[in-house]
Amino acid sequence: MTSGPALPVPTWFVGCGNMAGAMVAGWRMAGVDLSNAIAIRPSATPVEGVRTVPTISDAGRPPQLVVLGFKPQKLDEIAPQLRQFLTSKTIVVSILAGVEAASLRHRFPGVGSIVRAMPNLPVAIRRGVVALYSEDSDEPARQLLSNLFAPLGYVPWVSDEAKLAAVGSVGGAGPAYVARFIAALTKAGEKRGLSRELAQTVALETVLGTAWMAASSGEDMESVARRVASPNGTTEAGLAVLDRDQVLDQLIAVTIEAAARRGAELAEEAKAPQLAESARLS
Ligand SMILES: NC(=O)c1ccc[n+]([C@@H]2O[C@H](COP(=O)([O-])OP(=O)(O)OC[C@H]3O[C@@H](n4cnc5c(N)ncnc54)[C@H](OP(=O)(O)O)[C@@H]3O)[C@@H](O)[C@H]2O)c1
Repeated sequence: MTSGPALPVPTWFVGCGNMAGAMVAGWRMAGVDLSNAIAIRPSATPVEGVRTVPTISDAGRPPQLVVLGFKPQKLDEIAPQLRQFLTSKTIVVSILAGVEAASLRHRFPGVGSIVRAMPNLPVAIRRGVVALYSEDSDEPARQLLSNLFAPLGYVPWVSDEAKLAAVGSVGGAGPAYVARFIAALTKAGEKRGLSRELAQTVALETVLGTAWMAASSGEDMESVARRVASPNGTTEAGLAVLDRDQVLDQLIAVTIEAAARRGAELAEEAKAPQLAESARLS
């Protein structure tokens, strides 16, 4: 049985690996009708519930919506093949990290609207974040995309591209950092004598439970920490280490700065020569 918003007919996923595949999984879980979606991936690895073809020319009827789900480095290989199938009515949604709207518009000059989406992997279980940004989409297109992405999690529109990059640094990459934190908690549990399985489950459930509690109550993190740490108790002794010289804040800040620098490099690489030159002169 299908329910909820419908994908425009047809919708193409050009590239359907980890991230676009996670979006498809979230929509499948939400009961969204995928029968008119086509996944284009050279390996033709099947995507459950979606017709999968190896090349763009096998995809058939031109799309109303195209989701660009390949790596940013593939843009100049794929754009010339794709362009001929797109019209002034096509909506292009790009999940390519770092590739700016102007760079996409340069590759797809005639399309109706270009929207950048910054998703994260938990969209696969409908608890993701998908930030959206567009310079040229009209209200009906925005409404369509808001409705379409809503089943995947929290879907804010952001007003400028710097904010999209910021959401990408925190939310897009965030699951990797949270995974490292859970792994570190797990290792600490093992060091204290727990089996790996027990330590990992305790770490996972603690992160999940804390996030869930704070998300459902709206309580701020300082208050959560204070409620765990009684004065002069064990947690307070631990927090004194994490808080000393704001060591954790600093570590996360430099981590995110490193990712943001890489994002800026990718944006630069994806600029067409003319765009890069005018950006350099401005
Ligand atoms: N991973 C994340 O958490 C995340 C978060 C936010 C944004 N993103 C963005 O998502 C995009 C994809 O990342 P990913 O992690 O999903 O990478 P991935 O798993 O490597 O997926 C890349 C996809 O592109 C396909 N592809 C390669 N060459 C192609 C071609 N010539 N024509 C059509 N499709 C082609 C691959 O096909 P095969 O399946 O046949 O190999 C694969 O399906 C990137 O631009 C990234 O910036 C990722």
